[in-house]
Amino acid sequence: MTKPPKEIRNICCIGAGYVGGPTMAVIADRCPNIQVNVVDLDAARIAAWNDSDLSKLPVYEPGLDAVVGRARGQNLHFSTEVDIAISKADMVFISVNTPTKAKGLGSGQASDLRWVEACARQVAKCAKGHTIVVEKSTLPVRTAETIQAILHAAQKPLVDESSPRSFVVLSNPEFLAEGTAIQDLESPDRVLIGGEDNDAIEALAKIYSQWVPSEKILRTNLWSSELSKLTANAFLAQRISSINSVAALCEVTGADVREVSMAIGADSRIGERFLNSGPGFGGSCFKKDILNLVYLCRYFSLPEVADYWQNVVTLNTWQQHRIARLVVKQLFGTVTGKRLALLGFAFKANTNDTREAPAINIAKDLLEEGAQLAIYDPKVNAKQISMDLQLHESSPPDSEAGPTRAALNGEGTWWPESSVIEAVNGADAVLILTEWEEFRHLNWAMIAPKMRQPAWVFDARAVVDPIAVRSTGLKLWRVGDGDS
Ligand code: UDX
Ligand code: ADP
Repeated sequence: MTKPPKEIRNICCIGAGYVGGPTMAVIADRCPNIQVNVVDLDAARIAAWNDSDLSKLPVYEPGLDAVVGRARGQNLHFSTEVDIAISKADMVFISVNTPTKAKGLGSGQASDLRWVEACARQVAKCAKGHTIVVEKSTLPVRTAETIQAILHAAQKPLVDESSPRSFVVLSNPEFLAEGTAIQDLESPDRVLIGGEDNDAIEALAKIYSQWVPSEKILRTNLWSSELSKLTANAFLAQRISSINSVAALCEVTGADVREVSMAIGADSRIGERFLNSGPGFGGSCFKKDILNLVYLCRYFSLPEVADYWQNVVTLNTWQQHRIARLVVKQLFGTVTGKRLALLGFAFKANTNDTREAPAINIAKDLLEEGAQLAIYDPKVNAKQISMDLQLHESSPPDSEAGPTRAALNGEGTWWPESSVIEAVNGADAVLILTEWEEFRHLNWAMIAPKMRQPAWVFDARAVVDPIAVRSTGLKLWRVGDGDS
């Protein structure tokens, strides 16, 4: 077998999404001698990555515009020419989407690997010489085997080539969190490289060593690397479900979950991070990865282990429905025809991503109850919200004209608002669902008179100042607060 090139000169990344785009931008920025080609089938997405206006990049991440601005056109290129980019590459990253399967075997739990498989086949078709293939997408354990099987079946010279082709597969899971992706990529806690071929592992380690201290570059076998990614996310998600379960108990016992978090987090064995109670975890990874783990456990006849992890997801969904139910309860048992201001739709602050956002389930429950939702999020656009809610936006009601026909018929409707102050106008309640910085500094003295009294603030992220809210006469519920 030919040796991998010691020096990687050309990288191709298939998939220009939340993972591929920022990761490659940082690699290009830190490794000026490597040409990095990010390719995607989605021409609109690629056009947005190439937009001269850096505020129009398809992924919103603090600091990403600066990194892309420095490297793009130098050694960072975005295109739809997948085959050409693969044929030029010494190393191909697979960074495509792997959503949970919607139908068939493993539906609702296993990952849908059709995009990964399509990529592997494309690499098998177009690669030349020796190619290192790196799994970057979140994948179920043993996916590398599938990729390897496809690539090895293709290990013969191309028609127009005399030299043999060879492939090595590595696992290099991404641990970046959205909203802090650039920071996480520039100074990661660790970089994990799993594989069986030392030369390939060292070629990838050499890239990261341009900016990551060597002790933070961990090497494991393929399966440990794949399983570590699922386990890391499962542990983080488990902490959130644990603290959310305690929040519910705080609310009925008079305790305050923030005080409990502080007290338990001071124990260095527990640590203080990831103990913020909220409307439940969202994002593309946590639920998907746990469901993958559950599927894996059932497959290997470990039903008790599967049930254990399944409960982390069950509690998360319960928390979202619980919040919707308590809003209805406090608003005299009905929200039909009532205007509610939803502040925040992204699954967390500093991202425009809404995948698995708690706001989706909460909004759907309230729409089901006939609520009129005025939705404001600083980064999420109306088209995305409409897709997530599977409901077209309505026009904002005209306060002069009285209730709309939909409101009178008890149909839930929603429309986008472009500021908090517009969203709260005439509302019976404000729901804070994402911890955007601006929601921490709202002028409640200005907001309260605009709302229909008696009015409520439901703070699912505990970002408001309770005294400032209550001093205006507004009623306040905060997650995990036994005082409210
Ligand atoms: C996560 C992992 O952190 C990252 O390592 C992995 O690679 C991808 O999945 P991400 O989903 O982008 O990253 O965001 P994260 O910051 O982990 O938050 C996930 C969800 O948990 C969000 O909805 C967030 O609001 C929620 N969360 C987080 C809490 O409710 N409380 C907390 O204390 C922390
Ligand atoms: P992630 O959060 O994992 O980055 P995204 O959905 O944001 O996921 O991005 C994945 C990207 O991969 C999408 O832009 C999609 O168009 C792209 N993609 C999927 N399959 C292929 C393929 N075979 N070739 C090129 N791009 C692909």
